Amino acid sequence: MLVTTKKLLVVAREKKYAVPAMNVNNLEAIKAIISAAEKMRSPVIIQTSEGAIEYAGIEYLAAMIRVAAKGKIPVAMHLDHGKKLEYVRMALANGYTSVMFDGSALSEKDNLRITKQVVKMAHAKGASVEAEIGAIAGIEDFVSVEEKDAHLTNPEQAAQFAKETGCDSLAVAIGTAHGAYKFKGKTHLDIDRLKRIAKLVKLPIVLHGASGVMEDVKAIAEHHGAKLGSARGVLDQDIVAAIKQGVAKINIDTDLRLAFTAGMREAVDDLPTVIDPRKLLEPSTLLMREVAMRKMKLFGSAGRVK
Ligand code: G3H
Ligand code: 13P
Ligand code: ZN
Repeated sequence: MLVTTKKLLVVAREKKYAVPAMNVNNLEAIKAIISAAEKMRSPVIIQTSEGAIEYAGIEYLAAMIRVAAKGKIPVAMHLDHGKKLEYVRMALANGYTSVMFDGSALSEKDNLRITKQVVKMAHAKGASVEAEIGAIAGIEDFVSVEEKDAHLTNPEQAAQFAKETGCDSLAVAIGTAHGAYKFKGKTHLDIDRLKRIAKLVKLPIVLHGASGVMEDVKAIAEHHGAKLGSARGVLDQDIVAAIKQGVAKINIDTDLRLAFTAGMREAVDDLPTVIDPRKLLEPSTLLMREVAMRKMKLFGSAGRVK
């Protein structure tokens, strides 16, 4: 059933597990994720970025997610990284149960002002809002460690921001980055900073850039021609530590993309006589489903649907 994102997340923080928030762009991904959630008895957030909406069209995406939500599994429908108000409006008009406003590239003053505006718009429709404070950056975005640290979330500032905006959940920067190349040197999350944030911010905390770049999936992709070099993700033990400290929503896109394209490469290599795209896409969907199930176990959301 389609449920409010807020309730899913408040319960998750209280019970110390995290709801997987998985990015989708097409039918196969939606089917893979819902099938994983059914198998694992896990609640799930299905989210679409502005890019996904550009690619597939919001009406197709919203309609497909609604169909996925028809069963017993609690499903929330979320706009990921809404940067333009136009997308926030579109998501709310299409019945999304929550939106993220990503004002991380704005000045603090503008982030605060626009987030407040988004909260008003969303709450009027019964939807909730994820805000972001700090910058979840890529490894190339900052030159030095000092510069990177300066962009991590400041606990006191986060508490003030959450209070002033009235947002329902908060995305924080504690050292993760989007994409497959997250760390140049040692893999490291600032769990101590997260602890300090979670002490002051009682809202569900959101972890972006949380993919692990799973070795076995990477190996399948590379065996079939992918060149992924030094791609490296967040360690499972750091994910577990983050959940313990109050992270209640974890965003995964890269690991699902990696699985999907590894399956595609494998199918193209192994099935040279097949021209039916449904058959060629089957390994992709299955591998994506497998990865989604592994995340649900790791996040402790498996078995939460009775
Ligand atoms: O955080 C960003 C997500 O991975 C979505 O990526 O904008 O390429 O759809 P995208
Ligand atoms: P990954 O790139 O680590 O999967 O992060 C996805 C994300 O944060 C989507 O908002
Ligand atoms: Zn993100």
